[in-house]
Amino acid sequence: MFPDQASTFAWHVDALYFYLILVSVVFSIPIVAAIVFFGLRYREKEKYATPEEMHGSIMLETTWSIIPFIVSMTIFLGGAIVYYNQFRMPDDGMDVYVVGKQWMWKIQHATGQREINELHVPVGRRVKLTMTTEDVLHDFFVPAFRTKMDVVPGRYTYLWFEATKPGKYHLFCAEYCGLNHSGMGGYIYVMEQRDFDNWLSGNVSGQTPVEQGKDLFENKLGCASCHAGGPQQRGAKLEGIYGHEVKLVGGQTVLADDAYIRESILNPSAQIVEGFQPIMPTFKGQVTEEQLVSLVAYIKSLSGITATTTGGGTGSTAANSAASGNTIDSANTMAPRKAERGRTGQEGSNPNTPGTGTEPTNSNR
Ligand code: CUA
Repeated sequence: MFPDQASTFAWHVDALYFYLILVSVVFSIPIVAAIVFFGLRYREKEKYATPEEMHGSIMLETTWSIIPFIVSMTIFLGGAIVYYNQFRMPDDGMDVYVVGKQWMWKIQHATGQREINELHVPVGRRVKLTMTTEDVLHDFFVPAFRTKMDVVPGRYTYLWFEATKPGKYHLFCAEYCGLNHSGMGGYIYVMEQRDFDNWLSGNVSGQTPVEQGKDLFENKLGCASCHAGGPQQRGAKLEGIYGHEVKLVGGQTVLADDAYIRESILNPSAQIVEGFQPIMPTFKGQVTEEQLVSLVAYIKSLSGITATTTGGGTGSTAANSAASGNTIDSANTMAPRKAERGRTGQEGSNPNTPGTGTEPTNSNR
């Protein structure tokens, strides 16, 4: 009746669910029994009988207030704990980027490998997805992990999980998104770390998202001509801004997070940084969502925040924790934290990245 429990929080969700069923059963049975019993016991025997007057019972009323209060608070607490665990992003999650499209999931690893409708992950590692869509609402749903998240046009949403069992698990789209919605699915392949490393090295990685972003920034879109960071630049400096407050014209401040960077590229005149003129043209229609994800990753790397990867030949946890030292919670989490100010990721390099080179390829396309 139930899908596998294959993530660390799968059993939390199931436990809460069974608790809700238990509470429903424990209340429904006595209520139905009482209705039947009273219906028989106190049925009308004589027309127009006057019932005995009753003036209440403190004891009874207190009891039937306190018990439901306790029960409802345990439901609230259980729900809050499960929600908090699922939707507060870990800061050491392996970064994976997801772009939904009618009707497929386009996925890219921080080491550059691309997949469609498939996602390979190592077992026992936290994986953090940064998701958006090219067209309409979709919803990334993995029943065996007991988690799902809407994928919303014009926004980044986040999802994390830690798989506990190697295997192949269904991935669904759980938001009606048009004709072939039901076909928009695939599989999550959970592998042992060694197998995952083999898989990673056996796939063409092409450019990593950070490298793609750098290429777009410096060459294809020409952002660097204004944003290179010199003293007389027409555009705001981007080094070190991620995770910090940015002062805007008019005195407002805004947190420089993924959403802010995306908005600044597509709709630059909406948030003008203090001391600059509104001269930047919009890049709406000129960059795809995947390119935007790369640009955000690159601009994050200018603040020393490198994407977290695992495997890629080393498979060592030391490399992973070293990488995670420079990551931060995404700004959508309930408790955004300040970025750490390391400058090690200046070049956006990744210790696990095989050399740069060919265009990203996809064998599934
Ligand atoms: Cu995508 Cu339903």
